[in-house]
Amino acid sequence: MNKAFEQHNKEAGAQPLGRPLITPLRFEDGRLMLLDQTLLPAEEKYIQISTKEEMWEAIYKLRVRGAPAIGVAAAYGLYVESARYAGESVEEFMQQAVETALYLESSRPTAVNLSWALRRMIKKLTETASSVRLSVQQAKELLLEEAQAIHREDVAACEAMGEYGLSLLKPGMGILTHCNAGTIATSAYGTCLAPIHLGQQRGYGFHVFADETRPLLQGARLTAWELCKAGVDVTLICDNMAASVMKNGWINACVVGCDRMAANGDGANKIGTMGVAILARKFGIPFYMYVPTSTIDLATATGEEIRIEQRDGEEIYRLWYEKPMAPAGIKTYNPAFDVTPAEYITAVITEKGIVYPPYDINLKKIKEE
Ligand code: MRU
Repeated sequence: MNKAFEQHNKEAGAQPLGRPLITPLRFEDGRLMLLDQTLLPAEEKYIQISTKEEMWEAIYKLRVRGAPAIGVAAAYGLYVESARYAGESVEEFMQQAVETALYLESSRPTAVNLSWALRRMIKKLTETASSVRLSVQQAKELLLEEAQAIHREDVAACEAMGEYGLSLLKPGMGILTHCNAGTIATSAYGTCLAPIHLGQQRGYGFHVFADETRPLLQGARLTAWELCKAGVDVTLICDNMAASVMKNGWINACVVGCDRMAANGDGANKIGTMGVAILARKFGIPFYMYVPTSTIDLATATGEEIRIEQRDGEEIYRLWYEKPMAPAGIKTYNPAFDVTPAEYITAVITEKGIVYPPYDINLKKIKEE
């Protein structure tokens, strides 16, 4: 499974990625700071998160977004809220931590990294407390250490996905991406944009086409901004232009992220991803989904079971416009994600290696490796 990657590294004389240009969150001197992504690309501003309510709002409003970044932010959010506990009862502390985790988990339903990270934090706490007598201070430290471990592991996962992903690409390729699964959607580097950043450092000269990604414009506001900043050749297109650029022969590969992959390989990602995958099949272009193992949800059998977040219809016709772009009272349908059937996914890139069909067998193997 990892042969292509090893061979590629050898030939490329692989160097690790440098420092990320910008990160979606920082935890410094006990303060949790989030890059407010709703302000991009006009303004790069970090906001402090001090309570669970602020964390919930930041996730719901997409100030922090992208499956891995949401998971890491929520883990720190749970710590920050728990650190405010002023009592001395560790049982009460733990009860409140569980309540905070459930509350934060309710902010967005589709990206599994959110519940995955929060449950991991609570599991660490309860398992440790069942074997040693913890003080409240020790319990707080445990939560911080676990959040930092989740953060570190996410950086390493993105670096590894960059290398695996790059082994599938060739210099000079045209690459289409949808939404933003880049540096600011993760702790660093991104999932599907990690090989593009890496390729940029190694002189691959990729030509990236970024779907604008209606309605919240993550492709235009975030991917185009992030890649421009990194000096990557990027061309912004409207979502409905993807078929044309494929037909023109300008696209050699499609790369996208994932919010939750079911056990059979069906993958939920930003609304519009499924259309890109179907077009890619039509034009004979490989379609790669980047899925850290924290995003593989073996408890969900197929995409049918993935809960798709429905958002306010005003996002479609009002949020980013000076004036409403539809008649008052218009009916709307605004699902935030769709599910790409496994059959359209050429390969799944994880931090542990590249997974090919049959996904029902191979995803389980890699997750449990
Ligand atoms: O609604 P968003 O902006 O959080 O959606 C983000 C995506 O769909 C990403 O592609 C996905 O979370 C993967 S991020 C590495």
